[in-house]
Amino acid sequence: MQIAISSDHGAFVLKGPLTEYLISSGHDVIDLGVESAQHRSDFPMTAGAVAQAVISGQATLGITMCGTGIGTSIAANKFDGIRAALCHDVTTARLAREHNDANVLCLGGRMIGFDLAVEIVDAFVGGKFLDLDRYNARNQQLRDIEQNR
Ligand code: RB5
Repeated sequence: MQIAISSDHGAFVLKGPLTEYLISSGHDVIDLGVESAQHRSDFPMTAGAVAQAVISGQATLGITMCGTGIGTSIAANKFDGIRAALCHDVTTARLAREHNDANVLCLGGRMIGFDLAVEIVDAFVGGKFLDLDRYNARNQQLRDIEQNR
C-alpha cells in the first residue's frame, strides 16, 4: 500500500522508526517531512502535505504526527475528502477504519512510544471499512457539509 507520512518536530522521533517498520512490512512510504527535529516546524504544513497526498491519490492512506496529535488532526480534517482520526489505542484505530473509513491516522509523538504506535498503525493500515449503509450515509453527510460551506 502507498502510505504518506509526516511529522512536525514534536513527533520526529517516531517518524523514522515507523517509516522503517512500514517499509519492512511491504508498504511504499512517501516521507513528506520534516527532515529533522532541530528546528520548530508547523503542523498545518506537515499535516497538509499528507492530506494532499491522500486527496490526490498519490497515497492510499496517510499518517501524520505532532506532539499531541491534536494539531495535526485538526489541520488534516480541514481538507475536503479527509477523514482524519487521532488514535492512541488499538481499538479506536481499528474502528476508525471499520466505521469511519478514516483515511489519515494522527498520532502524538509525545503521548505514546514506538511499540504502541506500531500496534496502532497495524490496526489502522490493516483495518477495512465495513461498507454498511449507515456508515456510507454518515460519510455522505460529511461530504455534504464540505460542499455546503
Ligand atoms: C509543538 O510544540 C506542538 O504544539 C505540536 O507538536 C502539537 O502537539 C500541537 O498540537
